[in-house]
Amino acid sequence: MAIKALVFDAYGTLFDVHTVAELCERTFPGKGMALSQLWRAKQLEYTWLRSLMGRYEDFARITADALRHACSALELKLEAAHLLRLMDAYDRLALFADAREALPALSGYKRAILSNGTPAMLDALVKHAGLERQLDALLSVDAARVFKPDPRVYQLAVDRLALPPPEIGFVSSNYWDAAGAKSFGFRVFWINRGGVTPDALGITPDAAMKSLAELPQHPA
Ligand code: 2OP
Repeated sequence: MAIKALVFDAYGTLFDVHTVAELCERTFPGKGMALSQLWRAKQLEYTWLRSLMGRYEDFARITADALRHACSALELKLEAAHLLRLMDAYDRLALFADAREALPALSGYKRAILSNGTPAMLDALVKHAGLERQLDALLSVDAARVFKPDPRVYQLAVDRLALPPPEIGFVSSNYWDAAGAKSFGFRVFWINRGGVTPDALGITPDAAMKSLAELPQHPA
């Protein structure tokens, strides 16, 4: 079956979370990398744990909780102004250069975002990057009140696009997300910009590439 739509992950795939690391370093000189890595790790860990416990809170609340934990664990004093500025940076992430190139080149497909981000967070990111005309839908897990890689999240794309899973191409740089999407039944393109080793999850994406620039050449 030919792919009729492409569904993109947001954080780390279209948008560069490294922008936040730079602000972390400016806020806590010498601790920026440690903070941004622990913050991202805890943010994702909390989404998985809350999903397994059935204790959903939205991604904005979880991102703030993870930041507070990471600062406390690293013994960094997080002033209220710091929290606001760091959270605000999450809404203004830089669009990866290869994403800016690739999205218009893929205008033959329906294009959507499917992300853990809240609707407000996704709106802010898309507006800040000027992507409104490049995307047909912004899908937040908030509608399912559970996080990736729960199958109910990927089902949101099937329902909104009215396409069967094999006609939807899913694009993510996060291997755990790519594996979840493959497990659900999408055709999956893993964007491995950093050359990381795939996780041993018994599932393999349909294609791996170093940049979104390679996407237009892939078979539909
Ligand atoms: C997402 O955008 C967190 O990258 C993950 O859903």
